[in-house]
Amino acid sequence: MRILVMGGAGFIGSNIVDQLLLENHEVGIVDNLLTGKKENINSKAIFFDMDLNSPMLERVFETFSPEVVLHLAAQVNVAKSIRDPLLDQEINIRGTVSVLEKCKKYNVRKIIYSSSAAVYGIPKNEIIDEDHPTDPISFYGISKLVPEYYIRTYSKLYGLQYSILRYSNVFGPRQDHMGEAGVISIFANQIINNKEITIFGNGEQTRDFIYVQDVVNANISAIHSEVDGIYNISTNCSITLNDLVRKMDIQSGKSTEIRYEDERMGDIQHSCLDNRAAIKALGWKPVYSIEYGLKETINYHAESSITEKNQTKG
Ligand SMILES: NC(=O)c1ccc[n+]([C@@H]2O[C@H](COP(=O)([O-])OP(=O)(O)OC[C@H]3O[C@@H](n4cnc5c(N)ncnc54)[C@H](O)[C@@H]3O)[C@@H](O)[C@H]2O)c1
Repeated sequence: MRILVMGGAGFIGSNIVDQLLLENHEVGIVDNLLTGKKENINSKAIFFDMDLNSPMLERVFETFSPEVVLHLAAQVNVAKSIRDPLLDQEINIRGTVSVLEKCKKYNVRKIIYSSSAAVYGIPKNEIIDEDHPTDPISFYGISKLVPEYYIRTYSKLYGLQYSILRYSNVFGPRQDHMGEAGVISIFANQIINNKEITIFGNGEQTRDFIYVQDVVNANISAIHSEVDGIYNISTNCSITLNDLVRKMDIQSGKSTEIRYEDERMGDIQHSCLDNRAAIKALGWKPVYSIEYGLKETINYHAESSITEKNQTKG
């Protein structure tokens, strides 16, 4: 199958691209390398170095002629969305409409959209299913939710098939450890470099962390699914940040110092997504244990850290 991956140089997108190529699909990548990295790009894919809103995107659809589009390209930083809501909407909302217009014009069969738990806002129940109200508390959350409506409307008007996948906290190799990135990659980098880590609050807040390969598999299942739908992609289990650090210590053989700082405004205390709809409709289920994922992630950061140090020396 010919599959175009928007954001295929990023953390999740590049892991998906590698799997699609292993399964012998023809893969194109559109990415402007805003946060994506050249070294993530699989050389067997065709790479279009391009912005979602570029007028040249039309040529990509015309020449590559994808049957399915996986749309992961986005401005993903919540703090940046608060500082610069216009950029956020330009990439996440306008960029998605730009992609959808080409899907319509070039008869793409299906779009698979990477959405986020951020669309729910503050949880009203212990476990959030897809019927939970959507009430985002950041511009990022809004800019991930609005495209869901566009996709569903393109589907109603033009018959574009879709799967909307709302991820919980994804972690794994290639996730950036700089700035506001995922907490596990930040912790992994600090643990490897024997630094103390900082937790905002008392560390008893919980998160539902899902390993990137499980997210890759959810996207692959969605490609083959015949039904349109919105699904949480998560583990259905949550863990406190204190327990997370203990598990990371076991996997790395270290004993990490934790500094506790004041809770940050707007941080959600508990977050856990119900994944039963995806299990039922997509025939998918998460299979990687958090221990396995942490080990892989720590190994990745250990190797990257050695490479970075060698480059600095050289
Ligand atoms: N990482 C998570 O925990 C998580 C959780 C929920 C949802 N998501 C969603 O998953 C998707 C992928 O996230 P990620 O963590 O891999 O982030 P990432 O930043 O690594 O990937 C995003 C990719 O999009 C590209 N991009 C950004 N703006 C672009 C533009 N205008 N034109 C072309 N390419 C552009 C970037 O260069 C990057 O390669 C995003 O849509 C994000 O909202 C991620």
